[in-house]
Amino acid sequence: MLITGASRGIGRALARAFAGPDRALFLTARSADLLASLARDLASHGTSVHWLAGDLRDPAFVAQLARQVLDTVGPPQIAVLNAGIARVGPLERLSLEDFNDLVAVNLRAPFLLTRELLPHLRAGATLVYIGSIAAKEAFSHWSLYCATKFGLRGMVTALREEVRGRGIRVILVNPGPVATPLWETIGMQADPRRMLTPEDVARVVVKVATEPAHVSVDEIDLLPQQGLV
Ligand SMILES: NC(=O)c1ccc[n+]([C@@H]2O[C@H](COP(=O)([O-])OP(=O)(O)OC[C@H]3O[C@@H](n4cnc5c(N)ncnc54)[C@H](OP(=O)(O)O)[C@@H]3O)[C@@H](O)[C@H]2O)c1
Repeated sequence: MLITGASRGIGRALARAFAGPDRALFLTARSADLLASLARDLASHGTSVHWLAGDLRDPAFVAQLARQVLDTVGPPQIAVLNAGIARVGPLERLSLEDFNDLVAVNLRAPFLLTRELLPHLRAGATLVYIGSIAAKEAFSHWSLYCATKFGLRGMVTALREEVRGRGIRVILVNPGPVATPLWETIGMQADPRRMLTPEDVARVVVKVATEPAHVSVDEIDLLPQQGLV
């Protein structure tokens, strides 16, 4: 199986949650050092782990990643397209670079990677996309992030209908706030007491992705019990 954004946060928790002696994981992110140490750790507990470091903003890397996944572990039975970034602030202070980066990581990379993998997927395969509650609800100062996540939700919802007949499941998981390093990247203080943990998200993803093939949890919102703060 494939997990993007596996070096930290939700992706790292996903790698740990999916690990097991009968699983072959393929992990990717930019941070080679973090991927290598995670892979070593998981392999020492019996999981077969491959990884490739690179930047999902680069379409050539996305193509190389897909080729390498197919060559090493074969068409994934489960792929979790999790990598994502945020930039926040009043719209007039967001830059063209912010726009390009968010679109490239949150929307274009899932499109390109899906397009590369899809012809090879067999019936029973499951594609999981990590959206956000900001894919359905708009928040002040999160305009670009909402734009990419609303876009991702639109793409994924259409894709689900396209591939239903092929027996391929498309699942969108929309977490509310999760205590991950993402909050540091946007200079915001995360209050972990009002947030989900990465392990909460990973547990739910494992559950929905491993339901029997005739069951599809199409979309799921996952919030802290206390709601959004
Ligand atoms: N945290 C939240 O509150 C929250 C809530 C709802 C949805 N989400 C979504 O959940 C997903 C994971 O977020 P997270 O909170 O776990 O964030 P995170 O802790 O910042 O982790 C993001 C992951 O994406 C990878 N990544 C970022 N830019 C990349 C690039 N250009 N190329 C390749 N990989 C890249 C990072 O690895 P490298 O830095 O090593 O490249 C890292 O592994 C995202 O899609 C996010 O939008 C998060």
